[in-house]
Amino acid sequence: MSAPIQRFNLAARALHWLMALMILAMLFIGIGMVSTVSELHNRLLDLHKPVGIAILVLVALRLGVRLRYGAPALPRDLPRWQQHAAQVSHILLYALMLAMPLVGWAMLSAGGYPVALGDGFVLPPLVPQGRALYAFLRQAHTELALLFFAVFLLHFAAALFHALIRRDAVLRSMRL
Ligand code: HEM
Ligand code: HEM
Repeated sequence: MSAPIQRFNLAARALHWLMALMILAMLFIGIGMVSTVSELHNRLLDLHKPVGIAILVLVALRLGVRLRYGAPALPRDLPRWQQHAAQVSHILLYALMLAMPLVGWAMLSAGGYPVALGDGFVLPPLVPQGRALYAFLRQAHTELALLFFAVFLLHFAAALFHALIRRDAVLRSMRL
């Protein structure tokens, strides 16, 4: 039998921290963007779109790494409900990493706005144009962002709980 894995695979750890930075930046860029009608709005949007699509590409890569290399086991003495909570919250975080960029891309397609990523590279529309669809996806993008922030806060609190209160190896399993 092979020895139990102590840490996440290096690629998984690198992707975790890179994406955590990108996602937190995106949540704040998004809020900054919708809080201004100045020239800054367009500049932030020009940053928001390519970084969001990069997150979509990276999460696909990360899911591949996760399926290929798995994850270290949680401490055996961790109560069952906490093991379940960890599993559910991780699935939710992966789902949100996929859903946020897809909904952003689809919402712009529904509104008839091409998703241009820099010099002349334009993504194909994901969904047909339609006002009702645009309104629905625009609202969904906001609500999913709020949910993402809430789940992130729980995730962060859980990491601190492991590191500072339980003092187990969970945070170390993700150390670079
Ligand atoms: C992880 C990825 C993403 C995150 C965390 C994110 C987050 C946000 C947030 C927090 C807002 C502000 C919502 C509000 O208060 O109404 C927002 C707005 C927006 N996002 Fe995203 N977003 C992501 C990906 C994308 C992508 C890939 C696109 C398009 C390709 C996109 C396009 C937009 C647009 C067009 C707005 C509204 C701008 C406006 O009304 O002025 N987002 N996003
Ligand atoms: C938006 C930011 C973040 C996202 C989207 C995120 C997402 C995730 C996901 C999906 C996992 C599960 C990995 C897997 O099983 O494949 C994970 C694990 C982990 N994350 Fe985060 N994370 C974020 C920020 C943070 C921060 C700020 C910390 C610590 C300060 C942290 C600490 C950890 C730890 C310790 C694990 C391992 C948990 C375990 O083994 O069960 N994360 N993260």
